[in-house]
Amino acid sequence: MLYLFQSFWCQPKEIQAIISAQTHFEAQDSDVIVATIPKSGTTWLKALVFAVVNRRRFDVNSIEHPLQKSNPHDLVPFLEYKVYANNQVPNLSNLDSPRLFASHVPYNSLPKTLIKNSNCKVVYICRNPFDTFVSIWHFISKIRPTNLGPFSLEEAFDMYCMGQVGYGPYWDHMLGYWEESLKSPQKVMFLKYEDLKEDINLQVMRLAEFLGCPFSAQEERDHVVDEITKLCSFQNMKNFEVNKDGKSILNFDNKGLFRKGEVGDWVNLLSEEMVERLSKIMDEKLAGTGLEF
Ligand code: A3P
Repeated sequence: MLYLFQSFWCQPKEIQAIISAQTHFEAQDSDVIVATIPKSGTTWLKALVFAVVNRRRFDVNSIEHPLQKSNPHDLVPFLEYKVYANNQVPNLSNLDSPRLFASHVPYNSLPKTLIKNSNCKVVYICRNPFDTFVSIWHFISKIRPTNLGPFSLEEAFDMYCMGQVGYGPYWDHMLGYWEESLKSPQKVMFLKYEDLKEDINLQVMRLAEFLGCPFSAQEERDHVVDEITKLCSFQNMKNFEVNKDGKSILNFDNKGLFRKGEVGDWVNLLSEEMVERLSKIMDEKLAGTGLEF
């Protein structure tokens, strides 16, 4: 069941933690926030940000690297699912810097200290709306309690087209971060899943630059970028023990976070009419914004 809260759709159980984060979170200039709408590449981006920012602390090639032992959702916790969940208000001031957090909320619902009163960085990733929908549908179908019966593709698609999806409407979510990235490119970096798939090394170099820790010439000669992208690749991550058997966010099986990891899987699920309907909506919503898929 989704409710409209602060102009986006979410589940009632998420609201307390969202308000708590908005009330209590105190940003530090060195913080990095990974922001996404569900199923757009969050797990991948968390892994990349963690590996890039901590590459001098944790050897990327070591079998002891934290990404081999912990799911990215435990290393870069969500403000709303972990940090402020269950009515807790933790003291975060003693955490090592840079502190890495994540959020699914739209830009304007991020804690104010984070967007207004600090120089912390926000990295956003989005994905073409067709693949994002397909990924969401598979995910929800997997975790939905059996007593509710199957979630039909048609019903899910209809809701998606009306904007009714967790943290959506999808287009508003993307445009909030997109516009902010144009206004303040030093604060918000806007990435697309498809661009990462096309040239991951290039995007990881851009990411490091944005985060204020560019790769040195020596690191480039030592192939550190390749090592990071390999560590965080779909095949590699999917096969870490912790991602085969462990659980992280809200007790979900980590293996459910790694399905196909491809661009264009929507052709296997969506009918011509569905594609036409969603294309029309996206064309209308994104017209004149400069954002395209
Ligand atoms: P599919 O369902 O299309 O396979 P999120 O992390 O935001 O929940 O997004 C999940 C999507 O990202 C899933 O897409 C998943 O397979 C894909 N994914 C997870 N880890 C990935 C990685 N390391 N590289 C590329 N895609 C990844």
